[in-house]
Amino acid sequence: MEFVRVLYASKATNIYPDLKQDLIKILDTAVDFNSRNEITGVLYYGHGYFVQCLEGRKSKIDELFYEKILKDDRHKN
Ligand SMILES: Cc1cc2nc3c(=O)[nH]c(=O)nc-3n(C[C@H](O)[C@H](O)[C@H](O)COP(=O)(O)O)c2cc1C
Repeated sequence: MEFVRVLYASKATNIYPDLKQDLIKILDTAVDFNSRNEITGVLYYGHGYFVQCLEGRKSKIDELFYEKILKDDRHKN
């Protein structure tokens, strides 16, 4: 079984107060999906930017990163 780590930075699309709602929703989804799929990591937000590290089985990380996170218009770049 192949395990991978992905580390990226992106720019938040929204600014406060919409951003605060985005963060709460993202965390809610992430805690649920990631724990069910044995994905660990950290999500950091500061000064308009996200930094996230994700670790887990390659198939699960690929699904999450390419099919969901990359297509999410709450962030860009
Ligand atoms: C910066 C950022 C980080 C995210 N991290 C995760 C994550 O770790 N796990 C997760 O399930 N969703 C994460 N999301 C949310 C996904 O992009 C997506 O909205 C969510 O998985 C629901 O996708 P679905 O509607 O296709 O099921 C993140 C979104 C953003 C903007």
